[in-house]
Amino acid sequence: MINGSTALHGILGDPVCHSLSPVMHNAAFTAIKLNGLYVPMQVKKENVGKAVAGLAALGFIGVSVTVPHKETVMEYLDEIDPVAQKIGAVNTILFRRHPEKGTLVSRGFNTDWLGSNHALAEAMKLTGSRVLVLGAGGAAKAVGFGLVEAGAEVVITNRSEDRGRELASWLGCDFCPSDSLAEIEAAALINTTSVGMEPNTDALPCEAKLLPDFKVVMDIVYAPLQTQLLRHAARAGCATIDGLAMLLYQGAAQFKIWTGKQPPVDVMRAALLEELKRR
Ligand code: ATR
Repeated sequence: MINGSTALHGILGDPVCHSLSPVMHNAAFTAIKLNGLYVPMQVKKENVGKAVAGLAALGFIGVSVTVPHKETVMEYLDEIDPVAQKIGAVNTILFRRHPEKGTLVSRGFNTDWLGSNHALAEAMKLTGSRVLVLGAGGAAKAVGFGLVEAGAEVVITNRSEDRGRELASWLGCDFCPSDSLAEIEAAALINTTSVGMEPNTDALPCEAKLLPDFKVVMDIVYAPLQTQLLRHAARAGCATIDGLAMLLYQGAAQFKIWTGKQPPVDVMRAALLEELKRR
C-alpha cells in the first residue's frame, strides 16, 4: 500500500523505460514486507542536477543511476564513496540526514563492480585467476576494477586499441589486440561490450573458435539472456553466466545500501526472469 510512510526509490536514466530495476526492487520490497516503492524516472542530461536536488527535497531514500548519467551525476552529490570516486562512476545514491547538522546529505556509490565479482565468483575463484575482458567502456572499467580488487589477473581487449590500452594502463594490467587473442591463456572470458544485444542477436564479440580454451564465459548482455556468445560457449563445454547475474547482484548491493537489510536475492532473480519472459 502506498501511503505517507512509503520509502521512495527509483532510477534516473535516459532512456529508462526498458529498465528491469523497478521490477526487481519492487519485488524485493514486497517480499520483505517493507513499505517501499521504486519508480523509473527519465531525466535529460541538463536536468540531472535539478533532479538530484528535487529527489532530496521530496524525501527519497535512494536511487539508481544508469546510462548516460553515471559520471555526470557525480558533480551534484555531497559525498562520493572512495571506490566510486576511483572508478569515476556512480550507479547508486543514498539520501540521509546528517546526524548532527540535520541537513540532507546525498552520497554516491558504485555497486556494478560488486555485481560482476559476485556473478563470476559463483562459478570460479577470482583470486589468482586470469580473466580476459572484452571491451573498454564504462562497464569494462567497473568489471576490470572488481577483478583487480579481488586479486585476479586481468587482460583487456577492445576493438579500438587506443581506448583498450588506456583502460589496461588505468587498471595496471595487460592489453591484447583483437588479432592476438589466440595467444591468451585465461580461465574466464567476460563480454562487457554490447555485441550480441537485441536486435543484433547473431553477433559474436570474439571468434567462436577461441571459446573452448575458457572454463567460464560470462556475458553482461541480458537481452537476450542466451546470447550467441553463451550458446557457443556452452557448446564448447564452458560454464556460462548470463547478464542477469550482474544486474541482480549490483541491485542486491543497492538494496542493502538503501534498506540496511539482507536483499531477498532469489525473489529478485525470479522477478527479473518473469519480466524478461513477459517481454
Ligand atoms: P558502456 O559504458 O555500456 O560500457 P561504451 O562506453 O559505449 O558503453 O562502451 C562500449 C564497449 O563496447 C566499447 O568497448 C566498444 O568498443 P570501442 O571502444 O571500440 O567503441 C564496444 N563495442 C560496441 N560495439 C562494438 C562492436 N560492434 N564491435 C566490437 N566492440 C564494440
